[in-house]
This record gives sequence, structure tokens and C-alpha cells, in this order.
Amino acid sequence: MYRVETIRRLREARRLAVLTGAGVSAESGVPTFRSPEGLWSRFRPEELARVEAFLRNPDLVWAWYAHRRQIIRQVQPNAAHRILAALEDRYPDFTLITQNVDNLHRRAGSRNLIELHGNLERNYCIACARPWQEEDDEPQAVPRCPDCGGLVRPDVVWFGEPLPQEAWSRAEAAARRAEVFLVVGTSAVVYPAAWLPEIALESGAYVVEINPEETPLSGRVHDAIRERATVALEALWSMLES
Ligand code: APR
Repeated sequence: MYRVETIRRLREARRLAVLTGAGVSAESGVPTFRSPEGLWSRFRPEELARVEAFLRNPDLVWAWYAHRRQIIRQVQPNAAHRILAALEDRYPDFTLITQNVDNLHRRAGSRNLIELHGNLERNYCIACARPWQEEDDEPQAVPRCPDCGGLVRPDVVWFGEPLPQEAWSRAEAAARRAEVFLVVGTSAVVYPAAWLPEIALESGAYVVEINPEETPLSGRVHDAIRERATVALEALWSMLES
């Protein structure tokens, strides 16, 4: 499955960075975005994952994210999340950068985690930015800030919005210094996150992609593993352990 050079690099590296996308949560039962049955095949992102959509119809957008939150609370992190969390202890300098907002890397125990697109379990008031946490059950209508009455929104990056500056800077620095850069379960078509494997390549990292499908990145990485994340990461873990 892996090239001999890949295993050697992974065994010898001290600085490892990983970029994950929705594919790493697919085996937990969380729908991806661009696969045939993915979220964007059933909903239009510009009607839901944009601030204009939220301001036009806050209850609809809130209910969609509440629905996604209910899905992720019913699923468990899978072996891919768990192995990525375990890899953190094998490398002196390990950074996990995720595009996912499903909180599953955090639940699997990942610590040095950069959430480029935010986290569905966090919400805040668009007027005063106060963090908001629902008391008991999930309100279906958009909540109002108890302080100022402003609309509450999920703490996720919507289309057309900038990434959190600090998260981006840390992710870019990790991609620049990585000796090995793993790209797991992302279609690598959404920027700026998709710049990170390019930055790693330009900075001399050995780049490995894990994805059952071909992506625009596949032709440029040092090793493209056509496997599901759980299968590929379990194989990687057992090779590192042997
Ligand atoms: N293991 C590994 N990869 C998988 C698996 C699996 N079991 N199943 C699917 N994949 C791959 C698909 O082949 C696809 O390349 O995961 C990728 C998922 O791609 P997308 O659905 O585009 O998700 P992602 O790349 O994370 O999207 C990036 O776009 O919509 C925005 O903000 C949203 O963070 C998201 C961003």
C-alpha cells in the first residue's frame, strides 16, 4: 500500500502535519459534501452556508446546523480519528489541521488541533460576539443573545468569509516546517485550505494523500494511497509499530 520511501520518511520524521477533510468522518456516518449523496448534492451551499442566507432566513440556516449537530452527536469518532490522535504522541512536532466542523477529532483526543473552518459545537452572537451555549434541548428557531438580543450563529466559516487569522497562520507555519505532510479525506478544491498541501510541497515536505478517489492533488504528491482513511491509517500504524 505505502511506498517503502513513505514508511522510511514516516519512521524518521520529527515534524509531521496532517490536513483532514470530510472523508475522515465518512466512516463515522457523517455525510461528506461533494460525494454523490453528499450534503451539497441535497442542499445548496449558497442557500445555507453563507452569511447572506443566514440574515435572509436565520431560522432555516439555524435549523440546518442544528440538524447537522444532532447527526454528529449520534456518531462516534472512527479508527481514523483515533489513530490520528495516537500519532500525536509519536512525533515531537505534530499538528492536525482539519477543515471539519464535526468535533470528532477533539472527541477522539487530538490536542494540537487547528480547526480551520470552526466547530459546530460553538455558537456566538453576531452583534456582540458573546459565546452562546444552549441550556437544555436544541432550539429549532434561531436563538437570541441573552445580553443584547442579537442573532446567534454557529462558529463555522461560511463561504465568502475569511478563515480565523490565528488558525490560518498556525496551519501555514505547520505546513512550511513539516517533513511529512499527510492529506486525508479531502477533495482539495476549497481554498485557502487547499493551499496547505501546495505550501508543504514547495517547502520540501514529503506529501502523502489518503483518498479512495483521485483529486487535483493526486498527481503531485509523493505517494497517493487509494484507500479509505481507516484502512490506510490502520496499515500505517501497524507498520510504524512493527
Ligand atoms: N476515507 C478517505 N477519504 C474519503 C472517504 C474515506 N472513507 N470517503 C470519502 N472520501 C473522500 C472523497 O473522495 C472526497 O475526496 O473525502 C473527500 C471529501 O471531499 P468533500 O466532500 O469535498 O469534503 P472536504 O474536502 O472536506 O470539503 C472542504 O468544503 O464545503 C466546504 O467547508 C466545507 O470543510 C468543507 C470544505
